[in-house]
Amino acid sequence: MFYEPRLGNSGLAIDPLKALVVPRPIGWISSVDLEGCVNLAPFSFFNLVADSPPIVMFAPSGTKADGSRKDSLNNAEAVGAFVVNLATYDLRDEMNATSARLPAGESEAEAAGLEMVPSSIVAPPRVKASPVALECRYLQSVVLPTLDPAQPNTVVFGDVVGVHIDEGLIVDGRVDITRARPIARMGYSLYAVIDQTFRMSRPASADGRLD
Ligand SMILES: Cc1cc2nc3c(=O)[nH]c(=O)nc-3n(C[C@H](O)[C@H](O)[C@H](O)COP(=O)(O)O)c2cc1C
Repeated sequence: MFYEPRLGNSGLAIDPLKALVVPRPIGWISSVDLEGCVNLAPFSFFNLVADSPPIVMFAPSGTKADGSRKDSLNNAEAVGAFVVNLATYDLRDEMNATSARLPAGESEAEAAGLEMVPSSIVAPPRVKASPVALECRYLQSVVLPTLDPAQPNTVVFGDVVGVHIDEGLIVDGRVDITRARPIARMGYSLYAVIDQTFRMSRPASADGRLD
């Protein structure tokens, strides 16, 4: 089959695009407003997009019920920082609960029963129970095209300035991420869990170096 997303002509009840770009890692973003109120929300339009320096992005799209911009976006821009917490299988219900639409100033972390602990460098705290947290300094926002001006699409970039890793994930000098069992977003209401991996070495080029 072939369809054009802008025409909505897939013939399927639900546009399948988000079921095709999978699995999408979940950036579980903690932030604070200028009064210090903590906000926590998952974003699957999220990734690491550079590594020298390390840069991550998350993409808030749409608005809150009252038509205002999402709190994570406002907070990252206002305070100049955010933290990416790893969403794991053990924390799946809490992660999901933090996607609830709460008014600005009400903490999703508290509502989900999650303890937050101070970060080392940036103002927003991190999720204590999450085995990995990336402290990020806000870099810039890029406003993307939208088909509905009332539903803006923005990408927020952040410079990773600090990395927390639970020591229990480190085996023989490497992170064994299967110990954390990260979850990732698929289409519809489906998730994947990373609990197995396989290794492949890249082919060496003619001069023996890797590209
Ligand atoms: C697994 C998961 C992934 C999500 N990914 C996104 C996303 O990439 N972009 C987005 O705008 N909303 C996403 N949402 C919805 C937001 O988490 C939700 O709108 C949240 O209320 C935003 O919170 P905030 O206003 O506190 O920033 C996702 C929800 C879940 C459960």
